[in-house]
Amino acid sequence: MAKIIGGLTTSHVPAIGGALARGAQQEPYWKPFFDGYLPVHRWLEDVRPDVAVVFYNDHGLNFFLDKMPTFAVGAAPEYHNADEGWGIPTLPPFKGETGLSWHIIEHLVDREFDITTCQEMLVDHAVTLPLKLFWPEGCPVTIVPICINTVQFPLPSAKRCFALGQAVGEAVANWDSDKRVVVIGTGGLSHQLDGERAGFMNKRFDLKFMDSLVSDPEWATQYSIHELVEKTGTQGVELLMWLATRAAVPGAVRKVHANYHIPISNTATGLMALEAI
Ligand code: DHB
Ligand code: FE
Repeated sequence: MAKIIGGLTTSHVPAIGGALARGAQQEPYWKPFFDGYLPVHRWLEDVRPDVAVVFYNDHGLNFFLDKMPTFAVGAAPEYHNADEGWGIPTLPPFKGETGLSWHIIEHLVDREFDITTCQEMLVDHAVTLPLKLFWPEGCPVTIVPICINTVQFPLPSAKRCFALGQAVGEAVANWDSDKRVVVIGTGGLSHQLDGERAGFMNKRFDLKFMDSLVSDPEWATQYSIHELVEKTGTQGVELLMWLATRAAVPGAVRKVHANYHIPISNTATGLMALEAI
């Protein structure tokens, strides 16, 4: 059976793509952010996953406001990136792990999740930049992208996203394969890009949330979506991807590394590497 080696969570601010393209990693603005990934690179060299299940939110590239699934699972042989208008380079396609995609889809439907299945799926900065941050030299893993709507209300609850993550974890654990799987969650942490509170961040909440993923994974499920928006900002609800990721890794975890840095663009950025034990 396949093995879940752990979970990786990171912010996905588009400006990271510009910094990577310019080679700005050593500039004073960027260094504290990029240095956070170095211990994670060493961990990945050690644990060497074959496949990544990526929880992310699409921001209008693949789904627009006219058609917005709550949960969508990719089942494509390749996932292409396309210009989103951020002025950052478009990255080459990523290879899909279709066998695992269909296994996850079957298990989720069996567990009464009404998902959308995507045999074609463009992936935006929320998939491409984390993969580039974790594997700057080129992506060695195949992927299964799982998209959670955090763009157009109503959004799925934290409790529901946790349950989704658990069901995905069960599916991976009983996938008949000897491959090593890492679960990735992208987005957050606190940020608000629009409205009266544009620029809002909440360090206290973010740090408590990061701790909870190790010590009390269901902690954030006590909050409604509106409470999460109040505490973390309109785009801070992207923490749902972190929650699903943690839920997919069964049992206790060891914190391999964490980094938290304010700000990158409008965002309080976070990074965690959690190893399954
Ligand atoms: C920013 C952050 C995001 O998560 C995103 O999807 C787009 C922009 C930002 O801080 O600029
Ligand atoms: Fe985002």
